[in-house]
Amino acid sequence: MSSLTTSPAWMSLQEHQKIMSEQHMRMMFHEDPDRFRKFSLSAGPLFLDYSKNRITEKTVSLLLDLARQCHVSEWVNRMFKGEKINFTEHRAVLHTALRNPSTETLLVDGVNVREQVHHVLSQMKRFTESVRSGQWKGYTGETITDVVNIGIGGSDLGPAMAARALEEDCTVPRAHFVSNVDGAHLARTLKHLNPARTLFVVASKTFTTQETLMNARSAREWFLSQARYEKFIPLHFVALSTNQREVSAFGISPDHMFEFWDWVGGRYSLWSSIGLSLALTLGMDKFSEMLLGAFEIDEHFQTAPLEKNMPVILALLGVWYINFFNAQTHAILPYDQGMSDFVNYLQQMTMESNGKSVTREGLPVDYATGSILWGGVGTNGQHAYFQLLHQGTPLIPADFIAPMHSRTPLGNHHKILLSNFLAQTEALMRGKSRSEAQAELISSGLEKSALQALLPHKCFAGNRPSNSLLIDQLNPRSLGALVALYEHKTFVQSLIWDINAFDQWGVELGKQLAQGIQAEWDQRPEISNHDASTNGLLEMIRKT
Ligand code: F6P
Repeated sequence: MSSLTTSPAWMSLQEHQKIMSEQHMRMMFHEDPDRFRKFSLSAGPLFLDYSKNRITEKTVSLLLDLARQCHVSEWVNRMFKGEKINFTEHRAVLHTALRNPSTETLLVDGVNVREQVHHVLSQMKRFTESVRSGQWKGYTGETITDVVNIGIGGSDLGPAMAARALEEDCTVPRAHFVSNVDGAHLARTLKHLNPARTLFVVASKTFTTQETLMNARSAREWFLSQARYEKFIPLHFVALSTNQREVSAFGISPDHMFEFWDWVGGRYSLWSSIGLSLALTLGMDKFSEMLLGAFEIDEHFQTAPLEKNMPVILALLGVWYINFFNAQTHAILPYDQGMSDFVNYLQQMTMESNGKSVTREGLPVDYATGSILWGGVGTNGQHAYFQLLHQGTPLIPADFIAPMHSRTPLGNHHKILLSNFLAQTEALMRGKSRSEAQAELISSGLEKSALQALLPHKCFAGNRPSNSLLIDQLNPRSLGALVALYEHKTFVQSLIWDINAFDQWGVELGKQLAQGIQAEWDQRPEISNHDASTNGLLEMIRKT
């Protein structure tokens, strides 16, 4: 048994769960009309109602004991101070420094990271202004109308998600995102573009990622097939990376490289130069508003007491369901069409961070760490997978996210959207009892035997937990705040589970094996050095 599962805070929660598993939220709301006030809080542009959870004040107090036992506040300070808490890679974790406007010195290995950050932000500002104003010209003397970000994972998902979310703020140049090594992704993107007016932004922290380099090489070929001369490359290719040597080896001059640093994790890099494509289409002022929105949540996270700390509360609620109710998935349900890529983005952030099964000391865990995160925009999900949320067997805690005001008002659309947003969390919480369902069927005039047959199918158990997150409107500030909220939630959960949220060794094995297979592909006459399944599949593919 691990020290976590035998700890006093954990065992008290286990005892408490036995009582709570018998309680229905419907009764809790009936008995305590003050629940909404008690279980809601604000942080920057975010408002969280967490009253529709299977909790009482006692639950929250026990969860906070767990957070204290795991030294959450101390670890938060260590992260913000730049300690090397990503110990398996010997790195500080300082994505928060990327959005902090302060000029106060912050040293990592004797270097003031604040100066580095502000230097690159100024470089990004100059460049975005020059491209957006038309001062930067392509090889024919025409201006740039399209930017293609070539990257994958953290070098793609953040800027792609944000560009979609903030579409109303985006102007020319238009941003496109190519990530998949499936040639269709690049080919479909380039089909509509003019090389003379296209800028490629090759985004890779390591600049060794196979997919990105392959796409970047093919993009260069496509460009040169029109522009003909290598001398035009600097006008159309820039790099975002921590690895100047590899950038130069690829043929992009360091003058056209926007740097970031190893203390920025890939999945936390939206705020760094990795956001350049976004900044190009959004303008640097709006990009800075996004940074400020995130900074507001950083301040809140660092200073709010644990019981009023939004990322901490969200993290603890997640732990409550994952570890004490055996919830294996968590749904994210934004009621905003602009947030259609938000779940993809959060999947990397949370599942690459907390998909771990050994503690910081390297011991196997005997408790669940992290759940499968999934979801999509409402109201679409209501007509697809919500049935499982309402009447399925698994318990699926869900975060409902909605803007109070639409950026694209159209008749009654927003009122209908928000009515659905409200109705879903109410339905999940209350359910429909047998007597309620029966009364409905009787009033519909159904005769007795048909009614009895139908009745079990018409009941909803309810008692299904949800959080409601409101923002005034989806804009750079609120988006920045939302992303920072989930970053910190993820970090707090890793602290409870005693795992390192900032490495990702689990992605290495597949990469290694793929390199091997690729090498064997053309060289070996017969492939027999894998398992029978892999050998068989490879031979089948090679023969066609
Ligand atoms: O394979 C996983 C990963 O390393 C992610 O952590 C990262 O965001 C992505 O690949 C891309 O890496 P890079 O920015 O170095 O190309």
